[in-house]
Amino acid sequence: MKIAICPGSFDPVTVGHVDIIRRAVKMFDHVIVAVMVNPSKHPAFTLEEREGLLTRALKGMPKIEIVGFDGLLADYARERNATAIVKGLRAVSDFEYEFQMALTNKKLNPELETVFLTTTAENMYLSSSIVKQVAQFGGDISNFVPECILEDIKDRLCKGV
Ligand code: PNS
Repeated sequence: MKIAICPGSFDPVTVGHVDIIRRAVKMFDHVIVAVMVNPSKHPAFTLEEREGLLTRALKGMPKIEIVGFDGLLADYARERNATAIVKGLRAVSDFEYEFQMALTNKKLNPELETVFLTTTAENMYLSSSIVKQVAQFGGDISNFVPECILEDIKDRLCKGV
């Protein structure tokens, strides 16, 4: 059984993330969507909230499992017998950071491959940071996040909780 991990901060999950996860599901037997801690970011949503939003956004998607994990991705992959990390790659600006993480994870766990899927052209510009910024200033984020969690994200970010 080929197991992959789609890791990320998912703060919050966007339609771009959902697209990458959906495509990963077509390539692997089981996909673990891991909500993780990125020490260089200060998330707006707690790990549990991010996990809850993802669970609703991915409801009904086959072959997936959503987990929250505060630790090293390379260790978690080993623990779960995962052989691949799947990440979305947007513009050139993502590349250096993603390349650095892929090489580090490979060093920590040589059995682990990182697979990059290019984002669709319409999601090229999209990021969780953009969603948060637009929402905080009362802009329309309906094209950026799954509809089933739109109101919760708006409520939460507009109120600045
Ligand atoms: O969505 P992000 O913030 O780009 O995802 C980055 C994430 C969470 C996958 C990365 O920070 C991570 O793997 N965190 C877990 C800790 C870890 O393993 N760090 C070393 C990565 S080289």
